[in-house]
Amino acid sequence: MSLDLALTNARIVTCAGDDLTPSAPGFVGIRDGRIAALGPMKEFTGAVRVEDGGGRLLTPGLIDCHTHLVYAGDRAREFEQRLQGASYEDIARAGGGIMSTVRATRAASEDALFAPSAARARRLLAEGVTTLEIKSGYGLDVDNELKQLRVARRIGRELGIDVRATCLAAHALPPEFAHRADDYIDHVCRAILPAVAQADLADAVDAFCDHIGFAPAQTQRVFDAAQALGLPVKLHAEQLSDQGGAQLAARYRALSCDHLEYVSEDGVAALARAGTVAVLLPGAFYFLRETRLPPVDLLRRHRVPVAISTDSNPGSSPTTSLLLMLNLACTLFRLTPAEAFLGVTRHAARALGLQPTHGTLAVGKVADLALWDAESTAALCYEIGAPPPVAVFKRGVRLSS
Ligand code: NIG
Ligand code: FE
Repeated sequence: MSLDLALTNARIVTCAGDDLTPSAPGFVGIRDGRIAALGPMKEFTGAVRVEDGGGRLLTPGLIDCHTHLVYAGDRAREFEQRLQGASYEDIARAGGGIMSTVRATRAASEDALFAPSAARARRLLAEGVTTLEIKSGYGLDVDNELKQLRVARRIGRELGIDVRATCLAAHALPPEFAHRADDYIDHVCRAILPAVAQADLADAVDAFCDHIGFAPAQTQRVFDAAQALGLPVKLHAEQLSDQGGAQLAARYRALSCDHLEYVSEDGVAALARAGTVAVLLPGAFYFLRETRLPPVDLLRRHRVPVAISTDSNPGSSPTTSLLLMLNLACTLFRLTPAEAFLGVTRHAARALGLQPTHGTLAVGKVADLALWDAESTAALCYEIGAPPPVAVFKRGVRLSS
C-alpha cells in the first residue's frame, strides 16, 4: 500500500476519544487526500514523501462551525455606544445593529464583499482552521442573500478549504417589511429559500429565534420550508431570553442549537434526545458583557455534545481567532481544556453534519491536520490566544509552512 505523504515522528491527538493525551511518536499516512494509515513509528514502512514532525503535536485541523464572516463595514461606532451604556437590544431597536450591517452588505458589490470576508477567513486558516461554516443573513432579500452565499462558496474554492454555507435569511426584519414580520417569513419561505436551494448555495438553514429576532411560530415555518427543500436546520436559540427554541429545534432534529445562555433543563433534555449539538459562543458572551452563563453542567449531565465557535460577526463577536475562543470557553464557561478542544474538532464536525469525514484523525477520514509547537492541547487552551500552528494540511495538501 503506497502512501502519497506521511507525517512522521509526531505526538498525535486523534480526538476520537475524550482523553486527549498525545500518543508516543507516531505517523499519519495520506493517500488521495484521506488518512490511509496511522500508528506508532515502529509500524511505519515508508511513503513517496515524508515530512518529519520533529516530535511536535499533531491534531485534526480545527473547525469553526458558526460564523457570519461575509459582511461589509464594521460596527465600531456601536461599540462606543455600548461602552456609553446603550445595550445591544437598544441599538437593534433603533435601526442599528444587524440592520446597519445589512445596509453596508447590500451596498457592496460581490467583489467588494469578497475581499474583506476572504481576509477574515484567511486569518482563521492561519490558526489551523480547515473547515468553516459561513451564514448569510445580512442580505435579507433574494439577490443579496444569494450574493452573500456565492461569496461564501467562493471563499471555499479560492482558499482551498471546506466551507459549509448556511442560509440565515430569518436573521432580522428588513425595513421594506417593517411591522410585517409574518409577511417577511412568507417571503423567506416562498422566495428566498427556494432560490437559494435552486442555486445549491446552502447546506443548511438557520434562524434567529429571540425577542429581537423571530418568534417560535415564525421559526417553525422557516424550518418547515427548509425541510420541504431537503435542507437540515440549526438555530440561534436562547441567546437573550428563553423562547423554547431548543425544544423546537430538537423537534426538527436540528444539527445544532447555538448560544443557549438562557436554555432550560427541558431544552437541554430535548437537545440530548435529538442528538443536536450545543454550540457555545464565548466571544459573543464576552463582547456583549453577558452575565448569564450557558448551563454547562446541565449539558454535561445530559451528555449533549458541546462545540465552540467564534460566531465571527461585526456586532456581537468581531473576532477571527478560534484559538482565543478556546481560552475564553475555559475561562468564562469553565469548560475543561479537553472539552474545549473537542468543541473545535469532533463536536464541531457533528454540528455541521460532517462527523463521518471530519473532526478526528482515523483511517478513511479527510487528511485535515494541524501541527503545533505545543506540549498538549491543554497548552493551546491555556494561552490567551496561543501561537498559530507550524503547518496545516488540507486534504493532505500543505497550506502553510
Ligand atoms: O450570533 N444573534 C444574532 N446574530 C449574531 C449577531 C449578528 C450581528 O449583531 O450582526 C450572533 O450573535
Ligand atoms: Fe451567530
